[in-house]
Amino acid sequence: MCGIVGVISKQLDCNQKIRYGLKKLEYRGYDSVGYAYILDNKIIINKCKGTVENLYEKYPNLKEFNIGIGHTRWATTGKADNKNAHPHLSFHKKIALVHNGIIDNYNKIKSFLTKNGYKFKSDTDSEVVANLIEYYYLKNNNIMESLKLSSQILIGNYAVAILNIDEPDRIYFYKRKSPLVIGVSNDGLFLASDSLAFDKYCSDFIDIHDDRFGYITKDNAYVFSNKGIVDVKSYKNENKSEDNELGHYPFHMIKEIEEIPSKIEKLLDVYYKDNNYNFTNNLLECIKNSDYIIFVGCGTSYNAERILSRLTDQINKPTLTFIASEWSYYPVYFGKNPLFVFLSQSGETMDVIKCIDIVKEKGFKSLLITNSEASTLAKKADFVLPLYSGREIAVASTKAYVTMITVYLLLIGAYQNDASIIDEIKEAITAIKDIIARKDEIYQIALKIKKKKNVFFLGRGYDYDMALEASLKLKEITYIHSEAIAGGELKHGPIALIEKGVPVFCFFSDKKTYHALLNNVNEVKSRGAKVFNIVNESLKTNDEQFIIKDLPLRVSMLSKIVFAFYLAYFVSYQKGLNVDKPRNLAKSVTVE
Ligand code: F6R
Repeated sequence: MCGIVGVISKQLDCNQKIRYGLKKLEYRGYDSVGYAYILDNKIIINKCKGTVENLYEKYPNLKEFNIGIGHTRWATTGKADNKNAHPHLSFHKKIALVHNGIIDNYNKIKSFLTKNGYKFKSDTDSEVVANLIEYYYLKNNNIMESLKLSSQILIGNYAVAILNIDEPDRIYFYKRKSPLVIGVSNDGLFLASDSLAFDKYCSDFIDIHDDRFGYITKDNAYVFSNKGIVDVKSYKNENKSEDNELGHYPFHMIKEIEEIPSKIEKLLDVYYKDNNYNFTNNLLECIKNSDYIIFVGCGTSYNAERILSRLTDQINKPTLTFIASEWSYYPVYFGKNPLFVFLSQSGETMDVIKCIDIVKEKGFKSLLITNSEASTLAKKADFVLPLYSGREIAVASTKAYVTMITVYLLLIGAYQNDASIIDEIKEAITAIKDIIARKDEIYQIALKIKKKKNVFFLGRGYDYDMALEASLKLKEITYIHSEAIAGGELKHGPIALIEKGVPVFCFFSDKKTYHALLNNVNEVKSRGAKVFNIVNESLKTNDEQFIIKDLPLRVSMLSKIVFAFYLAYFVSYQKGLNVDKPRNLAKSVTVE
């Protein structure tokens, strides 16, 4: 949440570079935006409520400069408005600062600074940080020392980039728990929350570890720990070669849905090379030696972990699933030697980071399934299975959900030394391609529900897990209230919500629950619900239905969920909403 970018260049071209970075970081927050630069011994700040487009409409006359910092915001402390937008200028106008994170003790520091004559223009914790650094700087005339001193006081998490009016040849930074990387190019250096912000300019990046601080100049990066300067390692910026452009698609979400078949194929290439599974023996041994498999994640990743947990039954290991934000406050352990499996598309979700820290402290092993190999979580996990899905730009996760399930299916195949899953996954790819080819049918169904206030999804077993994901997707991008109900639970309360005309989508994948689920369908129909079933060929019903090629149960979710992704997408699109940037959300949830 919130994206920060800083650029120092050999040319007077920072304006376009910052604009590029801000646009790329908008997925991290898009309720306000701004940038600051130094020109003619002055710090100039342009910022406003709204999107990057709004900012450049407001400030169309672009000045050229060679040092600047920028920020896209997802409001935490202080509402989304002009005054709370970043960058923040310190009281004595020495320092401009952009911040990603949350400072827990900012009120206390604010009182201290107020007593020392400081006045504040915004409600943010970030402005407090700018003033705290300035407070020390005015005493010691040394920003590095001021960063050190202030970091000893700040409680919380932060990645911060700072301009100092007295040193227009460098951008300072410090970081604790929020992501921050340095981009290196022949023309200058960058700082950003994500290497995506400078993918066009830098082929390498340097990762900054927690509790490091320092500065970049147009030629070099200087990174320090409390003990002194540290050696840094640079990595290839994989984003550089990625296709993150929309092409002919109106939104990233539909592009990402339609990438699903190729992303599954990629996983087959990577994890089943030359007819052999490609997982390390260490990981397979670790699974073998574990007596419990405990899954932890949030949102869509949590919904995926429920499926993974069911798949784990096949290897006769007891499993449990947890929501990360719950487990971190109420950690429970099962077995003597549990393996914790964390799922996180971004690898930066703070609630999950808190959990992995607890698990590490306890000395238990962890496996991370992620789309970001360079993420904070990836650095902490004992084993990492990358999804190789390419960047998800749309806030609503789609291809990551499907690839999380696929990679785990492959892992189970490797563990059981059973290649039959490969053909099943290939069948699922064919089924997905068929759904993509029939998306117009889903468009028509979406037309029928776009004006509805409530929508329900029903299922049992795997189908219930999928219903949870279908429901989350619909509500988050269409703002229609929706709920997923386990078929058998209907009569225990939720059926009270069923009234004439309410749409109920029901997933049928499992022969075992076919009749029980059909009874549930009849129950809601007889109370006036408008039922749409998503069924396998061999599990047809007499209702309006979308028929999908028969697939073995364990891979059936890979295809059926694509129906639900399209449904949510088309409803959002027909309502004229910003599909990729739903209100109040951000792609990477880096605060608790
Ligand atoms: C919903 C969605 C979110 C994320 C959740 C966890 O479409 O994308 O629910 O799944 O915020 O994010 P990651 O997987 O990055 O930990």
